[in-house]
Amino acid sequence: MCSSTGGLGEAIARALAAEGASTVVCGRRGERARQIAAELPTAVGVEVDLLAEDGPARLWEATVAAFGPPDVLVLNGPGPKPGPASGVGPAEVDAALHSLLRQQVRLLGMALPAMRERGWGRILAVGSSGVVAPIPNLALSNLGRAALAGYLKTLAAEVAADGVTVNLLLPGRIETERTTAIDTANAERAGRTLDEVRRASLEAIPAGRYGRPAEFAATAAFLCGGPASYLTGSAVRCDGGYLRGL
Ligand SMILES: NC(=O)c1ccc[n+]([C@@H]2O[C@H](COP(=O)([O-])OP(=O)(O)OC[C@H]3O[C@@H](n4cnc5c(N)ncnc54)[C@H](OP(=O)(O)O)[C@@H]3O)[C@@H](O)[C@H]2O)c1
Repeated sequence: MCSSTGGLGEAIARALAAEGASTVVCGRRGERARQIAAELPTAVGVEVDLLAEDGPARLWEATVAAFGPPDVLVLNGPGPKPGPASGVGPAEVDAALHSLLRQQVRLLGMALPAMRERGWGRILAVGSSGVVAPIPNLALSNLGRAALAGYLKTLAAEVAADGVTVNLLLPGRIETERTTAIDTANAERAGRTLDEVRRASLEAIPAGRYGRPAEFAATAAFLCGGPASYLTGSAVRCDGGYLRGL
């Protein structure tokens, strides 16, 4: 379970553990990872910077050492810096693809062979509503997540007959430290209060509120479970109705 010391990743790790999964909790904050793992029935906490060159390999080695090759791989990680599309340079493109595509492809390369051999596996990537409707001022996120979505859709068809499903789960606005940080940055940029920014944001969500991490994680747990065996190649939304297109 990538990046699970906070926010959506932590909620998913807790939901999978509640379903009986042995769980690897990871993040740069090793102490926090170990603390969360200690609260779960069968889990280990691992300090890993997934953006470091050897990050995916370190997570893989710790996972295999603790529990063997995993049945479920949840891809999650930090979002890139906000900013407009105009003015983006090649170095920023490389960095976005490194954090949102390259490291994920590395982990997939390690995890998929055992899943295919066993005839059972679940790959789930945390995406963003920006995959369906690119979000203004999040050019690098829109770029990198669209690339991952295209890759995973291609992969889903290749591994479906081996019992491995590959899906994306798209958050709209789920209440985490990141949403608070983004709202605060937007308020500062626009010279408005955090409350004003929040109210405007809520107006765009038919449910009238931000989602709770546990609601997002419950959807993730379903997609990672046995009953979701015929659901693959999908981008599932958990957004309170935020995305208006069909
Ligand atoms: N929340 C939403 O509504 C929303 C909407 C759209 C997209 N997303 C995307 O979904 C993902 C998760 O969002 P979130 O809201 O849960 O964010 P968050 O609350 O900021 O949590 C981010 C998690 O990533 C970990 N992390 C950060 N850098 C890392 C690194 N280099 N290596 C390993 N782990 C790292 C953090 O742990 P450490 O600090 O311990 O490393 C933390 O566990 C992000 O990509 C975000 O952009 C979220």
